[in-house]
Amino acid sequence: MKSNDILMAGLKEAVAAGGVVAFTGAGVSAESGIPTYRGTGGFWTQYDPDKYAAIDYFLTDPSYYWSFFRDVRRDLLHKARPNPAHTALAEMERRGLLEAVITQNIDGLHQAAGSRRVIELHGSNRRFSCLDCGREYALAEAEAALEKELPPRCGECGGVLRPGIVFFGEMLPARAVDEAHDLARRARLLLVIGSSLVVYPAAQIPLIAKTSGARLALVNDEPTPADDLADWIVRGKAGEVMPELVREKPPA
Ligand code: APR
Ligand code: ZN
Repeated sequence: MKSNDILMAGLKEAVAAGGVVAFTGAGVSAESGIPTYRGTGGFWTQYDPDKYAAIDYFLTDPSYYWSFFRDVRRDLLHKARPNPAHTALAEMERRGLLEAVITQNIDGLHQAAGSRRVIELHGSNRRFSCLDCGREYALAEAEAALEKELPPRCGECGGVLRPGIVFFGEMLPARAVDEAHDLARRARLLLVIGSSLVVYPAAQIPLIAKTSGARLALVNDEPTPADDLADWIVRGKAGEVMPELVREKPPA
């Protein structure tokens, strides 16, 4: 691997050429204080995803998910702020270098950082709906219902509320998948940030981009299964690497 600064100079040049599409995972929000899923301290090292994140378990006993939301997720949603990695991506979009962010994250931090085109492949933890009548609930409304009872229920029909996230065992939103695949096929550079790339079908995106002629950059602090496909691998913290990619050269 070339030394980091030569590597970064090459990647910076590729970003400056535009046509970039970002694909992000939990690692991009780690420096905002949101634990990732895998690796040290990850959610799935403390909570069983088969109970907390699987649709069939949610339908049999929604209180598991809702107690996790009440005790862990809710605070993070309110406290977490975009970090320099999120803001660097919003800056890339502002400069017309980045088409969109395709994210697996459900935290809404890309939008909070100012990114306008964000495709949420795994939905959002800021949207909720009633399992029975489908009425939609914003975060504050779902929290108000949660204050009353767990699991929270719909004010219209008494049905149980569910989060607007994609549970394991559910299909990804078709429109988001189509848009993400189209972006990956047209990208000149796919910039993957903070994902272990082990959860499909989302993890297909880098391969779709690569096989459609894009170059591939991985910004991740650990190896991933896509490493041998990558044109650039930057080992490091997203919050440090990403601002580097958008830092303008000081005037000569
Ligand atoms: N900077 C860069 N990379 C980081 C950082 C950081 N500060 N912190 C962690 N990472 C890397 C980890 O090394 C890991 O490879 O980010 C990756 C996070 O991987 P996961 O925790 O598996 O998260 P993700 O890839 O987003 O998971 C995909 O799995 O549980 C489902 O639906 C959930 O969307 C999630 C999907
Ligand atoms: Zn209802």
